[in-house]
Amino acid sequence: MAICRSKLGVTGTKFHAGLIMSARLASAMILVAVASLSTHAADSALSQLDQQCLACHSAKGLEMKLANGDVLSLQVQGAVFTKTVHNKIGCAVCHAATSFENHPPVKRKIAGSREYSLEMNRVCQSCHAPIFKLYESSIHAALFREGNSYAPVCTDCHSPHAVMAKASYDAASGAPCSKCHDPIFNAYAGSVHGKTGLNCSNCHRAHDVTPATAGDQLKNACLGCHQGALDSHRIWLPNAGRHFDAVSCPACHSPTAKRKVDLRLYDNVAQERVAEREGVPQFETRARLAGAKGAGLDAMALRSLLRGFNIEGTDNRTTLRGRLEVTTGVEAHQLTRSAQAIRDCAKCHQQGADPFQSVTVSIVGSDGRSVRYGAKPEVLNSIVSVDSVGGFYAIGGTRIKLLDWLLALAVLGGIGVPLGHMTVRWLFRRYAKKISGKEDS
Ligand code: HEC
Ligand code: HEC
Ligand code: HEC
Ligand code: HEC
Ligand code: HEC
Ligand code: HEC
Ligand code: HEC
Ligand code: HEC
Ligand code: HEC
Repeated sequence: MAICRSKLGVTGTKFHAGLIMSARLASAMILVAVASLSTHAADSALSQLDQQCLACHSAKGLEMKLANGDVLSLQVQGAVFTKTVHNKIGCAVCHAATSFENHPPVKRKIAGSREYSLEMNRVCQSCHAPIFKLYESSIHAALFREGNSYAPVCTDCHSPHAVMAKASYDAASGAPCSKCHDPIFNAYAGSVHGKTGLNCSNCHRAHDVTPATAGDQLKNACLGCHQGALDSHRIWLPNAGRHFDAVSCPACHSPTAKRKVDLRLYDNVAQERVAEREGVPQFETRARLAGAKGAGLDAMALRSLLRGFNIEGTDNRTTLRGRLEVTTGVEAHQLTRSAQAIRDCAKCHQQGADPFQSVTVSIVGSDGRSVRYGAKPEVLNSIVSVDSVGGFYAIGGTRIKLLDWLLALAVLGGIGVPLGHMTVRWLFRRYAKKISGKEDS
C-alpha cells in the first residue's frame, strides 16, 4: 500500500489506500481526469471513462505489491492502447471485477503475478472462444498445466493492452515467438525462409502449436507449400516417400547439422507411436532398469525393454521405427538453399556413417513431447535387435550385404573414398530401378 500512495502522489491526487469511500474516490478521479485531458490529446479517441482510468494508470511507476511479494506494474500506455484492436471495448469491460465502486484498495487477494495473469486471461476466452479452444490443445497449454511458468498464455504473446491486428506480426522481428525462443529465431532469421517473410506460425501455427516431433504436422506444412517436392526428389532419390518418412527434412536441408537416429517405440496394432500412460510413466524406469549401467541401452537391454512393452503374448505389437533427424532445435531451423542440401548417398549409406553413431530410443511423453533415452550405436546392426529395428534397414551394414562388401573392396583396394561413393551411387541407382515399381504400388 505504501507503494501505491507514494506513486499516486506523483499524479497529484489526494487518493490513497485509506480512502475506500467511492464518493471521495470519484472526486479524486475527476480531478485527475480533468488534469490529464489537457495533456493526453492522443487518448481523446477513448471514452470518458477510459480516460479517467488512464488518468491514474498512465502514471509511470504506479505499482502494487502482491501476496507473494511480486510487484505488479499498473502503468498502461494510453497512447498505445488507443491504437489497438480493442480501443472501443473499454477498460471496464475487461476489468469488470475492478469497477469504480470496488476499486482500490483492492480487497480481493491477488496471490502473484502469474496467478493474476492466468485469471485475467479468462476474459480473452469470453470473446475469442474458438481460439481459446485451439490454444487449449497446444503444447504451450499442456506445459502450462504441468506447472511450467514460462509457457505462454494469451497475453504473453499478445500483451494485455497493446493487442494489434494479425497482420502486424512480422517475420523480421520474430514476434511474438522470438521473445522466448531467441536462439531458434536467430538461426531461423539467417535461413532460406527467414529471408522470405515466413513466420514461425506458418509452420507451427500460432495457437494449436504441437510438439515438434509429434505426428506429421510439420512435414505436412512443408509439403503444403512445396507441393512438387516429392516428385522433384524422386528424380534423384530412390523411394523418396520412404526417405521422407524416415529422414526429417532438416536432416538433409540443414547441411552442417549433426545428425542422429531416434528409434521410436511404435504400436503396430494401433498404428501409432507408443505414448506414456497418464500418471504411470514407465518408459524411463524400464529403460534405466534395462540399461543398468547408465551408459545407454545395448542390444540385449533394448530387447528386454521391448519385452516389457510386449507383455501378455502380444509379441511384436510394440516395435521400433527409426527416424534420422538433426540433433538440436537450432539446427532444425538452419535450412539453406537446396543447392547446399545433402545429396551424397554415402553420407548415410556407408558403414560407420556419422548419423548412426548417435542413437536414442523414445516414447511420447505425457505432454506430447518425446522422452528419450540413450542407446549404443550397435543396436542398429546387432542380430539381437534385428527383429525390432528390422524396419529400419538402409544402414550401411545391415541388410544390403553385397553393397557393404563391394564398398569394403573398393576401400581396401586403395581406390579411395570418392570412388567408393560413386560405387554406392551406381549400385543404389540399379537397386532403385529394381524397386521403383514397388514404390508406387
Ligand atoms: C484515482 C486513481 C485510479 C483510478 C481513477 C483508477 N485506478 Fe485502477 N488502480 C489504482 C491504484 C492505486 C491501484 C492499486 C490498488 C492497490 O494497491 O490495492 C489500482 C489497481 C488497478 C488494477 C489492478 C488490480 C485489479 O483489481 O485487477 C486494475 C486492473 C485497475 N486498477 C483498473 C482500473 C480501471 C479499469 C479503472 C477505470 C475504470 C481504474 N483502474 C481507475 C488507481 C486508480
Ligand atoms: C481486452 C481486454 C482488456 C482491456 C480492454 C483492458 N485490459 Fe487491462 N488487463 C487485461 C488483462 C488480460 C490483464 C492481465 C495482464 C496479464 O496477463 O498479466 C490486464 C491487466 C491490467 C492491469 C494490471 C497491470 C498489468 O498490466 O498487468 C491494469 C492496471 C489494467 N489492466 C488497466 C487497464 C486500463 C486502464 C484499461 C483501459 C485503458 C485496460 N486495462 C483495458 C485486459 C484488458
Ligand atoms: C504462442 C503465442 C500465442 C499465444 C499463446 C496466443 N496467440 Fe493469438 N496469435 C498469435 C499469432 C502469432 C497470431 C497471428 C496470426 C497467425 O500467425 O496465425 C495470433 C492471432 C490471434 C488472433 C487473430 C487472428 C486469428 O487467428 O483469428 C486472435 C483473435 C488471437 N490471436 C487471440 C488469442 C487468444 C484469445 C489467445 C489465448 C487463448 C491467444 N491468441 C494466444 C500468437 C499467440
Ligand atoms: C469484449 C470482447 C473482447 C475481449 C474480452 C477480447 N477481445 Fe480481442 N477482439 C475483440 C473484437 C471485437 C476484435 C475485432 C476488432 C477489429 O476487427 O477491429 C478483437 C480483435 C482481436 C485481435 C486481432 C484480430 C485480427 O483479426 O487481427 C487479437 C489478436 C485479439 N483480439 C486478442 C485478444 C486477447 C489476447 C484478449 C485477452 C487479453 C482479447 N482479445 C479479449 C473482442 C474482444
Ligand atoms: C519452415 C518451417 C518452420 C518454421 C518457419 C519454423 N520452424 Fe520450428 N521447427 C520446424 C521443424 C521441421 C522442426 C523440427 C522437427 C523435427 O525434429 O523433426 C522445428 C522445431 C522447433 C522447436 C523444437 C525444438 C527442439 O528443441 O526440439 C521449436 C521450439 C521451434 N521449432 C520453434 C520455432 C520458432 C520460434 C520459429 C520462428 C522463429 C520457428 N520454429 C519457425 C519447422 C519450422
Ligand atoms: C512466453 C514464452 C513463449 C512464447 C512467447 C512462445 N513459446 Fe513456445 N515454448 C515456450 C516454452 C517454455 C516451451 C517448452 C520447451 C522449452 O522449454 O524450450 C515451448 C515449447 C514450444 C514448442 C515445442 C518444442 C518441443 O520440444 O517440441 C514449439 C514448437 C514452440 N514452443 C513454438 C512456439 C511458437 C511458434 C511461438 C510463437 C507463435 C512460441 N512458441 C511462443 C515458451 C514460449
Ligand atoms: C535425402 C536428403 C533429402 C531429404 C530427406 C529431403 N530433401 Fe529436399 N532436397 C534435397 C536435395 C539434395 C535437393 C536439391 C536437389 C537438386 O538440386 O536437384 C532438394 C531440393 C528440395 C527443394 C527444392 C526443389 C523443389 O522441389 O522445389 C525443396 C523445396 C525441398 N527439397 C524440400 C524438402 C522437404 C519439404 C523435405 C521433407 C519432406 C525434403 N526436402 C527432404 C535433399 C533432401
Ligand atoms: C508457408 C509456405 C512455406 C512453408 C510452410 C515451407 N516453405 Fe520452404 N519455402 C517457401 C518459400 C516462399 C521459399 C522461397 C522460394 C525461393 O526463394 O525460391 C521456400 C524455400 C525453401 C527451400 C529452398 C528452395 C531452393 O530452391 O533453394 C527449401 C529447401 C525449403 N523451402 C524447404 C522447406 C522445408 C523443409 C519446410 C518444412 C520444414 C518448408 N520449406 C516449409 C515457402 C514455404
Ligand atoms: C540423410 C541420410 C540419407 C541420405 C543422404 C540418403 N539416404 Fe537412403 N535412406 C536413409 C534412411 C535412414 C533409410 C531407411 C529408410 C527406412 O528404413 O524406412 C534409407 C533408405 C534407402 C533405401 C531403401 C528404401 C526402401 O525401400 O526401404 C534406398 C534404396 C536408398 N535409401 C537409397 C539412397 C540413395 C541412392 C541416396 C542418394 C541419392 C540416398 N539413399 C541418400 C537415409 C539417407
